Amino acid sequence: MNNKIKNSNQNGQKKYLWAKNQMPILRKLVQKYSQNNTLKGLDIGVCLHITKETSVLIMGLKETGANVSLCSANPLSTKTEVRDFLKESGIRIFTDKNYNLDSFYSNMDKVLDTKPQIIIDDGGELHKKAIRRKDPIRGGTEETTSGVNRLRALSDIPYPVIAVNQSITKHLFDNTFGTGQSIMESIIKTTSVLIASKRIVVCGYGWVGKGVSKYARGMGAKVSVTETNPLKAIEAYLDGFEVARLDKLLSHNDIFITCTGQINVIGRQHFDYLKDGAILCNAGHFDVEIDVKALDAIDPDAFEPVQNVTCYKIRDGLNKKKVFLLARGRVVNLIGSEGNSPQVMDLSFTNQFLSIIYLFKYMEKLPKKVSPPPNKIQNQISKLALQAFGLDIDNLTLQQKEYFKS
Ligand SMILES: NC(=O)c1ccc[n+]([C@@H]2O[C@H](COP(=O)([O-])OP(=O)(O)OC[C@H]3O[C@@H](n4cnc5c(N)ncnc54)[C@H](O)[C@@H]3O)[C@@H](O)[C@H]2O)c1
Repeated sequence: MNNKIKNSNQNGQKKYLWAKNQMPILRKLVQKYSQNNTLKGLDIGVCLHITKETSVLIMGLKETGANVSLCSANPLSTKTEVRDFLKESGIRIFTDKNYNLDSFYSNMDKVLDTKPQIIIDDGGELHKKAIRRKDPIRGGTEETTSGVNRLRALSDIPYPVIAVNQSITKHLFDNTFGTGQSIMESIIKTTSVLIASKRIVVCGYGWVGKGVSKYARGMGAKVSVTETNPLKAIEAYLDGFEVARLDKLLSHNDIFITCTGQINVIGRQHFDYLKDGAILCNAGHFDVEIDVKALDAIDPDAFEPVQNVTCYKIRDGLNKKKVFLLARGRVVNLIGSEGNSPQVMDLSFTNQFLSIIYLFKYMEKLPKKVSPPPNKIQNQISKLALQAFGLDIDNLTLQQKEYFKS
């Protein structure tokens, strides 16, 4: 092994240990289930962002007896030192250094060729591929909102899928607090912009949009929200945000963050009206929320003043204005920075881990459809989270329990 690779492995191992240390809930459960090798003989195919937090889940599954094959949910989010460490640790890992859509999908094929019984996915692409290939998958999980929506839209799913995203201990903490923080962190890291006093538009006030809006306001920004769902719009308004149509916000706002899971939320019809220097970025899973192709067509000579920032020049009367797109419209917190913090991913990946154990035990008996993790798992994780955060809460007295029933 040459020195460069060796250093990379060591850095990957350090990052793994750093994250593991901040993921006490998952660590505790891995310790418990690895004693009996609970997942012995299980082949798992995984498509997740390859980050230090993911390495803790993958190594935990391995320690519990499973054979794991891994590809990336987005090639650009792969942290190479973590990938090298996992490879060195005996994980079958299929990734490419350079972004290439063909190899992105062929790596999924390579994972499926290892004949996993269970698959873990983030975005639904691996599930859709396995279903198209008619692979004999017996169960699966799905990590994110966009993936769950896509799988729910399928008329027929040939195996049970646990929608990990639907666990309150996943979407409340990961989508809202974790992503809220890491989106703002990645915008600052890629652009060095001062958030205080900026005017920011958050498109979508779901779990992610809510978190992003609150973190942005907490850092001193003036935040406006756009929505298509009347209830979410009212919620944002009552939370104290301006709510308006996107076309009314274009000319005087500095930063636009899409959090919708939808396509062309900021499209060709909007770009001409943006102010000079506007920053566009996306928090959603797929790179379709901002119409990047239209931006490329407007300015084929766009350039990267710094890594992960593309500058487009758009005609504005006799002059040209600059518009900056972050991470080419891809999920900015995973490409522009490290993604969500290990403390938050502890909860998300404990949902994954317990869902896999549950599937392994019961998959033959479960209905072939998309379902949330069982309440038992969600309650167990809430209690473990309380312990991990060092919190003690009151219990209902017998009298209070009876009062509920009266
Ligand atoms: N970056 C990350 O780390 C991360 C973490 C979790 C989820 N996600 C992704 O973020 C996206 C949003 O997830 P969520 O859990 O908040 O979903 P959600 O369904 O709770 O919220 C999406 C919101 O967007 C609104 N919306 C849809 N189309 C819109 C439009 N054209 N304009 C304005 N609003 C619109 C919807 O009404 C909804 O309220 C998904 O793609 C999800 O997979 C990313």
